Amino acid sequence: MPKDYTVLITGASSGIGRELAKLFAEKGYNLILVARNMYKLDVLKHELGIKRRDIKIDIIQEELAQIGAGQAVFEKVKRMGIEIDILINNAGAGYVGAFQDKVFEEDLKLIQLNIIALTELTKLFGAEMVKRKQGKILNVASTGSYHSGPYTAVYYATKAYVLSLSEALQIELKPFGITVSALCPGATQTEFSKKAGKKDAKFAMGAKEVAQVAFKGLMKRKTIIIPGLGNKLFVKIPRGWASQIVAKYQKSLYLK
Ligand SMILES: NC(=O)c1ccc[n+]([C@@H]2O[C@H](COP(=O)([O-])OP(=O)(O)OC[C@H]3O[C@@H](n4cnc5c(N)ncnc54)[C@H](OP(=O)(O)O)[C@@H]3O)[C@@H](O)[C@H]2O)c1
Repeated sequence: MPKDYTVLITGASSGIGRELAKLFAEKGYNLILVARNMYKLDVLKHELGIKRRDIKIDIIQEELAQIGAGQAVFEKVKRMGIEIDILINNAGAGYVGAFQDKVFEEDLKLIQLNIIALTELTKLFGAEMVKRKQGKILNVASTGSYHSGPYTAVYYATKAYVLSLSEALQIELKPFGITVSALCPGATQTEFSKKAGKKDAKFAMGAKEVAQVAFKGLMKRKTIIIPGLGNKLFVKIPRGWASQIVAKYQKSLYLK
């Protein structure tokens, strides 16, 4: 029983992050929930608190798509006097559309959120874990980490970074007793698609199921966690061929 173990989850206000928060609460972990939408975080805190009165739940409002956001979260946690045992870098966003049609500021926000904040949080909390010689980090990548993504090019590229970083750190941090896993979901029924400007795929998995697979994989110290058979097969498709499929698929999902 993980009494007094604390898990910090970014992007806990909806989708996969919210389901992970519910799962970790059920298992008795203390939680620090991070996102921008304070109302949603408050509601979740309240709901989880009713079910588990024995766990401590804190919330942090943070815009992670800005420079220094990771440091800001780290300092807030320090001021709370809490040590993080499990870090879940889940917050992320994407967009669909031709690369040239998007202004650079949109790319920059995506890179800041999906790459920079994740790297900063991993570095800061990872250093504390190294000192304590224990800890787990779950970085949410994507099946898109394996292929290039025409018409969602920057998003797929950010997720390739997340997978690469996680695989490398799993080896570097293992001697310190720390495990680093990359979760690579495919299409999942969350708010993600709508925010990215596209329709949900018909074959999308449920966020709860994805969270359950993620939890099990993390506890087993797996390096890469791919929920669902279809997603496991998708990542094996030869790269050039997959990119053509992704191009057609992403175009077909545009919200007109
Ligand atoms: N859904 C899919 O099909 C799919 C597939 C593969 C990978 N993923 C990955 O799964 C992860 C979770 O996404 P999801 O599908 O659960 O989508 P979601 O329902 O849209 O959840 C995204 C979460 O990230 C937070 N977030 C977004 N932008 C943020 C920002 N600038 N600062 C702070 N927090 C921010 C959101 O909270 P606020 O809006 O309250 O800030 C929300 O809690 C992402 O990394 C995504 O790339 C999703």
